[in-house]
Amino acid sequence: MYSEKVMDHFSNPRNVGEIENASGVGTVGNAKCGDIMRIYLDINTDGIIQDVKFKTFGCGAAVATSSMATELVKGKTVIEALKITNKAVMEALDGLPPVKVHCSLLAEEAIHAALWDYAEKNHLHIEGLEKPKSDIHEGEEEESIVY
Ligand code: FES
Repeated sequence: MYSEKVMDHFSNPRNVGEIENASGVGTVGNAKCGDIMRIYLDINTDGIIQDVKFKTFGCGAAVATSSMATELVKGKTVIEALKITNKAVMEALDGLPPVKVHCSLLAEEAIHAALWDYAEKNHLHIEGLEKPKSDIHEGEEEESIVY
């Protein structure tokens, strides 16, 4: 069901941890499954992501996609990092089962939230960066409640 790469990044996740005095920190949740992701970015004065770490209360797919996403953004500029989508992360992992696709959004959204935090702290405008959601389902229509 999972590719070898997913299993590798799940069993041996890269970049797990925290960065003290990070340039930007972003936290995003998924209210539907209750999982939470936090990303820490260390960005130098040239706008290059020197280091990145993640912490998650997430499922295996969230761990594997965050591990891969952090590998992909490391060494990139802020603008390049912004263009790394969950689709690119899934491709780098040789795919995810359809029911697990939403898990890959946690890393993408948490990276955007960390970039937003970095931009706010430094009074920067990053082209294409939108205010992050605190939950990946925010803005979706509420499911109707049946009494
Ligand atoms: Fe929640 Fe995967 S089931 S992130």
